Amino acid sequence: MLEVLNLKVSYGAIKALDGISFGVPRGRIVALLGANGSGKTTTLRAITGLAAPEGGRIVFEGRELKGRPTHEIIRAGIALAPEGRRIFANLTVYDNLLLGAYFRRDQPALERDLGLIYDTFPRLAERRTQAAGTLSGGEQQMLAVGRALMSQPRLLLLDEPSLGLAPLLVKEVFHIITRLNQRGVTILLVEQNAAAALKIAHYGYVLETGRVVLEGMGAELLANPQLQQAYLGDEAEASPPPLPS
Ligand SMILES: Nc1ncnc2c1ncn2[C@@H]1O[C@H](COP(=O)(O)OP(=O)(O)OP(=O)(O)O)[C@@H](O)[C@H]1O
Ligand SMILES: [Mg+2]
Repeated sequence: MLEVLNLKVSYGAIKALDGISFGVPRGRIVALLGANGSGKTTTLRAITGLAAPEGGRIVFEGRELKGRPTHEIIRAGIALAPEGRRIFANLTVYDNLLLGAYFRRDQPALERDLGLIYDTFPRLAERRTQAAGTLSGGEQQMLAVGRALMSQPRLLLLDEPSLGLAPLLVKEVFHIITRLNQRGVTILLVEQNAAAALKIAHYGYVLETGRVVLEGMGAELLANPQLQQAYLGDEAEASPPPLPS
């Protein structure tokens, strides 16, 4: 469904993506893992037209996305739930959700989707008239995912949906991601929580300073000692051995 080929993005002198390639087949959950600064968010920004690639290809359902504006990419069927929640704090939960559907004109289907999102996230339904800024961190995370879903994406890009959540809520969010996938939404999941992500992902890629250093099926990747290495990088040698558990 999505093919990224030799993608390169730089910010001035910093090579954030140094030619990465990966694929997201239709109906799958693919995880993109890696340490801080490895290029995960940049990848999602490039796919959605928010960062300008200097090389490579981004092919979605057979069409080149590179160079196209963000609104066209959303219309093509891709949505991003960005890192750090990025909701509109002064607007209500309801208005935030509607913003996700700003270009849709199919009112009945839109209302059906809103109902579906409230079913999926009952906390949002209870708080629909509340200012989004007063939601807890986890609830804001759910709102960011809900808002992305309001554009009816066929491909959903999630940037660290578990960031800052308590373990129980992490479980809940990952469960919801699995359910969305079962309903037919293809998912590209960016995570630092490799263990949780690889439990639900069909396939995963590990980035290290803008390159893919490892890839494989979920369980296989989890068992790979190189995964730990990629996460800790050079610090792995400098840090003391882990405490026995
Ligand atoms: N707007 C920007 N200007 C300059 N450098 C940037 C910019 N955005 C990202 N970078 C740099 O590009 C590299 C990749 O950043 P990116 O945000 O993609 O990492 P990430 O894998 O998402 O990290 P994290 O896990 O911390 O979110 C980093 O070295 C970062 O400092
Ligand atoms: Mg990031």
